[in-house]
Amino acid sequence: MGYVISTANMKGGVGKTTLTVNIATCLAKNHGKRVLVLDLDTQISATLSLMSPVEFAKRRKYRRTFRHLIDQIINPEQKIKHTIRDIIQSGVCQLPGLDLLPGDIDLYDEFIVSEMLHNQAVAMGETDFETIWNRFERVLIGKILEPVREDYDFIVLDCAPGYNLLTRSALATSNYYILPAKPEPLSVVGIQLLERRIAQLKESHEHEAKMDIQMLGIVFTMSNSNILTGRYYKQVIHRVHQDFGADKICQTQIPVDVNVAKAVDSFVPVVINSPMSSGSKAFSQLTQELLQKL
Ligand SMILES: Nc1ncnc2c1ncn2[C@@H]1O[C@H](COP(=O)(O)OP(=O)(O)O)[C@@H](O)[C@H]1O
Ligand SMILES: [Mg+2]
Repeated sequence: MGYVISTANMKGGVGKTTLTVNIATCLAKNHGKRVLVLDLDTQISATLSLMSPVEFAKRRKYRRTFRHLIDQIINPEQKIKHTIRDIIQSGVCQLPGLDLLPGDIDLYDEFIVSEMLHNQAVAMGETDFETIWNRFERVLIGKILEPVREDYDFIVLDCAPGYNLLTRSALATSNYYILPAKPEPLSVVGIQLLERRIAQLKESHEHEAKMDIQMLGIVFTMSNSNILTGRYYKQVIHRVHQDFGADKICQTQIPVDVNVAKAVDSFVPVVINSPMSSGSKAFSQLTQELLQKL
């Protein structure tokens, strides 16, 4: 069985999505792995990094997005139109081995989920709503991915910032998580917050099957080599070293590279769009480092 890996940080704009799509692409392109990217953010950045908006709109019109799979779990009575295999787009960016489970700008309705779980609790005579909720988040994404788990060497989940139901469910079903962070104080706070939340999540699930998620590594993204700011960045990185230990911090850092940002315009990751750029080289090296860690 392959690995399920989440990319998460409570903070937005730290390079989670960019890291997810480029690592996924490197795994398929450079290492011949079978990879699935699942976009869990309603900003659909991962989807639009691998597929054009026109193609996405077409798929959304015919309900071929992740939303439809969540819907089937929330409303089990409805007739199943598409299976997960119908919804996955194979060989995105014309790269065999790189598949995408497109996200959606609207993934689930908080109220409907609460109502469904409340009804379940009443039917089961369960008075502790938290237990019902925890059980649901524990299995939601795992259940959706189950039919294709064995089709892939890697399933990479691009989490939204913050800490919503889908992030918790992603972490609960993952073997590892990668924590991208900008080398700046607020981003470091994001690391600490996520670490605390994951510890709580493990605790709240310890009565069910235990969560076995581990941190694969903290990756410093968008680091700047400018000499003055460079010294400041180094101080921040040093603090993270002290807090988390050197073995948790990936040696490869992703530099600021305009080619990385520009690649989004062409709907293919930078490692395909301009493979010789400094950003691309860093992503390739990081992928190798992560494979070694695994
Ligand atoms: N190494 C980089 N160099 C330049 N721009 C980057 C780099 N990594 C990410 N970006 C840009 O920064 C913005 C935020 O990145 P993104 O991956 O979407 O963050 P998140 O998923 O954490 O919100 C995007 O516009 C992206 O193109
Ligand atoms: Mg993102």
